[in-house]
Amino acid sequence: MPPEAKEKHDHNSLNFPNGFLWGAATSAHQVEGNNYFNDWWDYETKRFPPSRRSGKAADQYHQYPEDFELAKNLNHNAHRLSIEWSRIEPSEGHFNQTEIDHYKKVLKGLKDRDMVVMLTLWHFTLPKWVADQGGWKNDQTCFYFNRFLERIIPEIKELVDFWITVNEPSLYVYMSYLGGDDAGRWPPAKKNKLSAVKVLWNISRAHKKAYQTIHKLIPSAKVGSADNISSFEATHKHSVLEQLYVALTDFLANHLFFTLTKGSHDFLGINYYFNRRLGNPSLSPKIISPTDQKREVSDLGWEVYPEGIFEVLADLSDHIPIYITECGIASTNDDRRTRFLISYLQEIYRAIESGVNVRGFIYWSLIDNFEWHRGFTPRFGLIDVNYKTERRYPRPSALVYAEIIKQNGIPHKMLKLLGHTLNVKKELKEITKKNH
Ligand code: BGC
Repeated sequence: MPPEAKEKHDHNSLNFPNGFLWGAATSAHQVEGNNYFNDWWDYETKRFPPSRRSGKAADQYHQYPEDFELAKNLNHNAHRLSIEWSRIEPSEGHFNQTEIDHYKKVLKGLKDRDMVVMLTLWHFTLPKWVADQGGWKNDQTCFYFNRFLERIIPEIKELVDFWITVNEPSLYVYMSYLGGDDAGRWPPAKKNKLSAVKVLWNISRAHKKAYQTIHKLIPSAKVGSADNISSFEATHKHSVLEQLYVALTDFLANHLFFTLTKGSHDFLGINYYFNRRLGNPSLSPKIISPTDQKREVSDLGWEVYPEGIFEVLADLSDHIPIYITECGIASTNDDRRTRFLISYLQEIYRAIESGVNVRGFIYWSLIDNFEWHRGFTPRFGLIDVNYKTERRYPRPSALVYAEIIKQNGIPHKMLKLLGHTLNVKKELKEITKKNH
């Protein structure tokens, strides 16, 4: 038996289902650059120092062919990206055909490379004119969003395989209307619980309407959303109060949006980043910081907890297919990204084996990007971006991922050595050379 065949038959190799989708994601404002007409641009200009503004970002608006070529060379068979509403409709009711044509070219760039396209229609940014009228707090925004979809979808419908209506509505509400996290807030940065409820309600309405509109225009379309799902656990297992708090938080953060939009998902898009431990069995349990418990964390202080992805997948398993639409680590130590990939994929494999219908994994992100209020410091990319020259350099972890994709699974040796088996230097040089 040739050595590769032997490896395939090794029962310890984790083989994923045929047709599994493998890829990486980005979003328009985080990589394109110069999105002058949205609320984020306005917010950054008013509140952030120049070094923390999106500016020209990774200039993907111009460099998308190179990025797609890299993804293709790294064996990706799928890609998730978003279109920027504010480019297409920079002022109320005025659609810019040049930008529509640009996105047609972008999407065609993926199709020409035989990649499955997952397109996000709203990824956190609103045209400034929409934000000026109250953003998602304004009921009328659902109408505006739907009008935008009715205009754009007929133009691109042949070029998209999966439609992701909205990205992470619950996280958006938390960051924009409930106070954000320790590091900052997102526009409009107006802390107000009633607004938060209204905004989540309106985004749910917009999603349901988008679901209908897309199906009206393309009856066979696959439509869903991408939601940020966290795993939660009580520190003191005996504490009924903590357990109740876990159940309530889990419902509000993970299930509320799906409950409000029940019946309008052809698949579930899951973005997984956080494991939250709740502690202090008093009337108001708190989130325990993973660093206080000396746990492994990313450069952003987010706990590295592969078992968490198994837990959320098991919790959400039902009959509709699940795609991991985002999962990744911010780290300047690429060895950690390799370990992250292998250990999280191992848990996803375990979920599949135990009956969860997971059909794809999209790593966040393909290239380094503008991390919202944190600027450019966190490095999530499989591909390093030098922001001075805008040159791209695939990281070694990108090649480990490429090998997993090629094998449609994790070979035993890689699993055992957590990825430190490949001598990737020569290949990295070649891929980088080819693209410069
Ligand atoms: C968002 C991305 C973001 C990523 C990492 C997700 O919540 O969809 O836009 O870059 O997390 O922070």
